[in-house]
Amino acid sequence: MTAPVISFAGATRTFAARRGPGVTAVDDVDLDIAEGGITGVIGWSGAGKSTLVRMINALELPTAGTVTVRGRVTSELSERGLAELRGEVGMIFQQFALMNSRTVAGNVGYPLAVAGRSREQRRARVAELLEFVGLSELAGRYPARLSGGQKQRVGIARALATSPSILLADEATSALDPETTREVLALLRRVNRELGTTVVVITHEMEVVAEICDRVVVMEQGTVIEDGAVYDVFAAPSHPATRRFVHGVLQDVPSDETLARLRARHPGRLVTVAVGGPGSGAGDAQDAISRVPAAHGVRATVVHGGIRELAERPVGSLTLELTGADAAVQACVDELSRATRVTERTA
Ligand SMILES: Nc1ncnc2c1ncn2[C@@H]1O[C@H](COP(=O)(O)OP(=O)(O)O)[C@@H](O)[C@H]1O
Ligand SMILES: [Mg+2]
Repeated sequence: MTAPVISFAGATRTFAARRGPGVTAVDDVDLDIAEGGITGVIGWSGAGKSTLVRMINALELPTAGTVTVRGRVTSELSERGLAELRGEVGMIFQQFALMNSRTVAGNVGYPLAVAGRSREQRRARVAELLEFVGLSELAGRYPARLSGGQKQRVGIARALATSPSILLADEATSALDPETTREVLALLRRVNRELGTTVVVITHEMEVVAEICDRVVVMEQGTVIEDGAVYDVFAAPSHPATRRFVHGVLQDVPSDETLARLRARHPGRLVTVAVGGPGSGAGDAQDAISRVPAAHGVRATVVHGGIRELAERPVGSLTLELTGADAAVQACVDELSRATRVTERTA
C-alpha cells in the first residue's frame, strides 16, 4: 500500500472545561486514509466526528498524539505551513457558510483572492469551477436566491477553488431533501472520480455511506469502533451501534414488534437468512434460498426482508417461514446454514 495521505496516530483532542476534567472529543484514534477514496465517518451526534475531521485541516490540533497530512505533522506547522495545508484541504459544511453579500462567482473566487491570484486568473478559474458544478448560468446570483442544493454546489466549487487534493464534507447533505441529497452526493462522487480528490464525508446517515463511500469508519464516544470496506461492514457489522445504522438503512431485519405480528400470522418456523457477506460469492445465499427448501420438500414463504446493491453485490437478509415435516425443516435449516448465516426467529 502507498503511504496514507492522512494519518492519525494516537490522536486525542480534549476540550478543557472551566472546572472538572473536560471533554475528550477524540480519544486515542489511530487511522490511516489512503489517497483517492471516499471515506465515510459515521456516528451519533457528539461522537467526535467533526473534531476528528477538523484535525485534518488543522482547525483543531491534537492535545496528544499526531495527525499527519501529506507528510506534514499538523501540530508542527508554521503559519505559512498552515496556510499551505489549508490550500490543500477543502471543506464544505451543513449550513453552506456562503457570504450573502457576494454573488455566486464572488463566493467561489474568494479563496483565490485570499491566495493573491490576479483578477484574470480568478475569472478563468471561477468559470471552470462553475461549469464543473453546473452553475455557470447563476454566476451573478446572490445566495439568498439559491436553493439548498445550489448553495451546496457553490460551497463545493469554492472548496475546490485552490485545487485541494483532499475535500472534507461535514454533514454536507443533512440540510437537504433526499432528491437534492442524491444530486450533491453524485457531485461529490464526480469530484472524487474525475479530479482524483480524496474525500472524507462526515454523516449520521448510513444512506450517505451506502450511496458514495468505499470505506466507513464508525465513531462512538471519541473512538473508532468499526472500520472497513462499506460492503463488508454492511454485510457483517460487528458492533451493535454499527448494526443499528446498517439495519436502519436496509430495513431488512424485523423489529421485535414486527416479529410478534409475523409469528401470529405465520405458525411455521421463522428464520432470517443473510444475503451477501464476507467470503460469500454474490448470489450464493439467494441461490440456496431458491433451491434448498424445495429439495427437502419444505415450503418457504418470504415474510420480511430487504436487499440492496452495494459495490454491485447484493447485501441484506430475508426472513422465511418454513413449513413441512419437522425433520425436513431441520434438514433445510442445516443446509441453508452451510450456505450463509441463518438466525432463528421462532420464540
Ligand atoms: N469547541 C469545543 N469546546 C468544548 N467541547 C467541544 C467543542 N467541540 C466539540 N466539543 C465536544 O466534543 C464532543 C464531540 O463533538 P463533535 O466532534 O462536534 O461531535 P459530532 O460531530 O460527532 O457531533 C461533544 O461532546 C462536544 O460537545
Ligand atoms: Mg459534527
